[in-house]
Amino acid sequence: MAETQQQDETLFIQHFRESSRPLSYYLEKMAGYTALKKAFGMSQDDIINEVKKSNLRGRGGAGFPTGMKWGFIPKQSAKPKYLVCNADESEPGTFKDRDLMRYTPHVLIEGMVIGGFAIGANTGYIYIRGEYTREAKLLDEAIDEAYAKGYLGKNILGSGFNFDLTVHRGAGAYICGEETALLNSLEGKRGEPRVKPPFPAQSGAFAGPTIVNNVETLASVPFIINRGGDWFAKLGRIEKSGGTRLIGVSGHVKKPGLYELPSGGVTLRQLIYDHCGGILGDKKLKAVIPGGSSAPVLTADEIDVVYDIDPMMKIGSMLGSAAVVVVSEEMCVVRLLTRITKFYAHESCGQCTPCREGTRWMEEVLERIEHGHGREQDMNLLLDIAGNINARTLCALGDAAAGPVTSFVKKFRADFEAHIRSGKCPNA
Ligand SMILES: Cc1cc2nc3c(=O)[nH]c(=O)nc-3n(C[C@H](O)[C@H](O)[C@H](O)COP(=O)(O)O)c2cc1C
Repeated sequence: MAETQQQDETLFIQHFRESSRPLSYYLEKMAGYTALKKAFGMSQDDIINEVKKSNLRGRGGAGFPTGMKWGFIPKQSAKPKYLVCNADESEPGTFKDRDLMRYTPHVLIEGMVIGGFAIGANTGYIYIRGEYTREAKLLDEAIDEAYAKGYLGKNILGSGFNFDLTVHRGAGAYICGEETALLNSLEGKRGEPRVKPPFPAQSGAFAGPTIVNNVETLASVPFIINRGGDWFAKLGRIEKSGGTRLIGVSGHVKKPGLYELPSGGVTLRQLIYDHCGGILGDKKLKAVIPGGSSAPVLTADEIDVVYDIDPMMKIGSMLGSAAVVVVSEEMCVVRLLTRITKFYAHESCGQCTPCREGTRWMEEVLERIEHGHGREQDMNLLLDIAGNINARTLCALGDAAAGPVTSFVKKFRADFEAHIRSGKCPNA
């Protein structure tokens, strides 16, 4: 059973165990919908400036500053504008948005109405991964409650602002987490990424200016409006990164689960050993995948890094969706990389040749190494294929598949070579 950390300085997690009646709990314990009232007394620019000040950076993976993104939406538009919440949460290892939607759906709904008001959108969608049936139902119920209380719909709280919100269920494709594939899927088309530019802020859903934000990003907005951008920025312990982070830890730790910590508040070592109790069975740490399965792997010697967007990028990996997969010495890294690569080969939408072909080739090469038929030249072959995928595709799924291969092969080359030499896993 996963642990759910409880401690004082959190925005979300302290509420996760308690909110069995989402709306009344939200109103009583989380100052529910008071930020919305406050936002209606502010100008659109003031709201966007407050979000800029907060140093909120997108929680979906790329860490793009949210206020800046909202600022890209044109003030005037012949076509309707849209706000879309990315609740696809399909990056392996990631499970933070699920709990947010399950336990505190109204904070997301309130964040979306405020966001819609700030960018001038009257329509919002929550695009949720197909497998999250329970969360989709809970969201629908919460949305019904919000309509009944006048937090959604026409003339919200007498402000004159209208906002309609719909839950749209995906059908279980990783690619539909990529924002433009998501928009195609939302429109009823095949879930394939679009050519950019134009970016969604210029031409997104139904060709209207659109903002796509992650669940946690939008759920942070009511806190920013209620307590101020400066307050939110100061929650972070590192420059240019405000608020807290919901971090999902899985794999070989004693206390896997969801943790909420200040942005930049811990190193990976502190997270693994102080918060998660260290490695299962007191084994040695072998590797850490720090930001969902697409994040380049780190060795046990690389974990004294502050766990946040910029420091992780500096050491050649990424924070991604803040999903940490911890790997002990007992795990075969060849098997692990083969499994990861299989996922990306399966999920490639097939639109770009390097990704469609390359992910399958990498899978085949890795399969043969794992099953004892590897060749000496396979290491360089893997690096070559990955190098020909990276940055050569319309979307970042190609990079997501190439990054793990390149980093595992470079950092654990000896393990791969041992497999090839002995024709099997030396640890088996
Ligand atoms: C292949 C792929 C899958 C993605 N999956 C997700 C996802 O499941 N959830 C998410 O929020 N962002 C995902 N993203 C990132 C989105 O494209 C987009 O950057 C994000 O939703 C923007 O929200 P943010 O600015 O709040 O982070 C994915 C990107 C790629 C390339």
